[in-house]
Amino acid sequence: MGYHAAALGERELGQGKAFIDSLIQSAPFPLLAANVSDAETGKRLTPTYEMFEVGGRSVGVIGLVMLASPTQVDTAEFRIEDPIQWARQLVPEVRRQSDYVLVLSHLGWGGSFALAQQVEGIDIIVAGHGSHQTREPQRVGSTLLVQAGNKGRRVGVLRIKGSIQKGKYEGELVGLSKSMPEDAEVKEIAKEYQRRIRAIYSADSERNRVAPRVVQIRQKYAGAQSCRSCHMEIFDRWLDTKHANAMAALEQKGMEFDPECVRCHSTGFRKSSGFISMKRTPRLANVQCEQCHGAGHLHLLYRQKGEAAVASLGPVSVERAKNYGKVRITACLECHTVERDDDFSYEEGDLTGIH
Ligand code: HEC
Ligand code: HEC
Ligand code: HEC
Ligand code: HEC
Repeated sequence: MGYHAAALGERELGQGKAFIDSLIQSAPFPLLAANVSDAETGKRLTPTYEMFEVGGRSVGVIGLVMLASPTQVDTAEFRIEDPIQWARQLVPEVRRQSDYVLVLSHLGWGGSFALAQQVEGIDIIVAGHGSHQTREPQRVGSTLLVQAGNKGRRVGVLRIKGSIQKGKYEGELVGLSKSMPEDAEVKEIAKEYQRRIRAIYSADSERNRVAPRVVQIRQKYAGAQSCRSCHMEIFDRWLDTKHANAMAALEQKGMEFDPECVRCHSTGFRKSSGFISMKRTPRLANVQCEQCHGAGHLHLLYRQKGEAAVASLGPVSVERAKNYGKVRITACLECHTVERDDDFSYEEGDLTGIH
C-alpha cells in the first residue's frame, strides 16, 4: 500500500516473538517501536527512528507503543518502557537531523495528547489505537495531532504547506466508500481468506464448532416454527421482515459459514442450544423471535403444559416462564452497532420492521 513506516502496537506484540520477527522480516518498510526491547537480550526490537526524504524535506519518524499489562504482552518476551521518557530522549536527537519530527504514536488519543503536552519539539503526532477521529488536525502548542479512527475505514491526509505555527496546513479524513473501485490484489487476498473460512466451518466437525460463551441449563431455543401455532399473525408479519431473511444476505455473498458474520444473522449464536452452523442448525438461521425475546423453551412448556410442568424444574423456572418476552433496546444494539448500522434508532413500541 506504499507505506513508508508503521508503528507496532500492543496487539501485535501480544502475538509473540516468532510472529513479530516474521513481521519485521517480511514488511517492505520499517516497523518502529522505540520504547520496546527484547526481554531476553535487552536489545531494541527495532531502530529507534528512521529518516525519510519527502517533498525535498527531511522527516525523522519515531514509533512509540503504549504500556501494556502482562496478560496483553508477555513480559518474558518484550519489555515496554515509558514512551514519554523515550520521546524526551529521542526528539532532540532527531530534531538536529531533520526538518520535521513525526511520531507514530500507538498511545491512543489520550496518551498522544499527553505526549504533545509533555514533550517539546514534535511537529506531528499521528495517533493510533482506538476509534478516535480528528476531522480537523488538533494543535497542542506547536504540535499537530491527527488520528484517523480504526479498522482501516478511513485514510488521514495531512498537507503541510509551510509553517505549522502559522497554520499552513490542511487535514482531512477520506472514508472508504462503496463507490471506490476494489483493489484487485486485496480482493484476491480476501477471497482466499473466505475460501479457507468456508472450508473450515462448512466441514461438519465438532472441532469447528465455535465454543459457546453461555451454557444454558433449563432454557433452550425452540425455533420460530414452534411459536407459529399460537402467534400466527405475528409469525406471518415477521416472515416478511429482513430479520427473517438475514441469512440469505450472507448466502448471496457465500459467507454463511463465517462465524464473524453469522453471529448477527442468526439466533442464539454462542449459546449452548443456539445456532451453530448452516449444516447443523439451519432451523436457527436468521434473526428469529427468540433472538429478541429470549430462548423460549420454558414459555412453551408453560403455555402448552401449564404451571405444574414448569414448577417441576424449580421456582426460578416458573418466574422466568411467567416473565417471558420483554425486549430491551440493548438487545437491538448487540447487532445494530455503530459500525454496521450507524443511523439505527429505536423508539419503544415501534414495531416497524419487526412484526
Ligand atoms: C401454546 C401456545 C404458545 C406458544 C407455542 C407460544 N406462545 Fe407466546 N404466548 C402465549 C400466550 C397464551 C401468551 C400470553 C399473552 C397473550 O395473551 O398473547 C404468550 C405471550 C408471549 C409474549 C408476550 C409476553 C408479554 O407479556 O408481553 C411473547 C413475547 C411470546 N409469547 C413469544 C413467544 C415465542 C417467541 C414463542 C416461540 C418460541 C412463543 N411465544 C410460543 C402462547 C404461546
Ligand atoms: C455486529 C452485528 C453484525 C455483524 C457481525 C455482521 N452484520 Fe451484516 N448486518 C447487521 C445489521 C444490523 C444489518 C442491517 C443494517 C441496516 O439495515 O442498515 C446487516 C445487514 C447486512 C446485509 C444487508 C444489507 C447490506 O448492507 O447490503 C448484508 C449483505 C450483510 N449484513 C452481510 C454481512 C457480512 C458478509 C458479515 C460478515 C463479514 C456481516 N454482515 C456481519 C449486523 C451485522
Ligand atoms: C427484532 C426483535 C424481535 C423479533 C425478531 C421478534 N420480536 Fe416480538 N417483540 C419485539 C418487541 C420490541 C416487542 C414490543 C414489546 C416489548 O418491548 O417487549 C415485541 C412484542 C411481542 C409480543 C407482545 C406484543 C404483541 O404484539 O402481541 C409478542 C407476543 C411477540 N412479540 C412475539 C413474537 C414472535 C412470536 C416472534 C417471531 C415470529 C417475534 N415476536 C419476533 C421484538 C421482536
Ligand atoms: C442478532 C442480531 C440482530 C438483533 C438482535 C436485531 N437485529 Fe435488526 N437486523 C439484523 C440484521 C442482520 C438485519 C439485516 C438483514 C438483511 O438485510 O438481510 C436487520 C435489519 C433490521 C431492520 C430492517 C432495516 C432495513 O434496512 O429495512 C430493522 C427495522 C431492524 N433490524 C430493527 C431491529 C430492532 C428494533 C431490534 C431490537 C428490538 C433489532 N433489529 C434487533 C440483526 C439484528
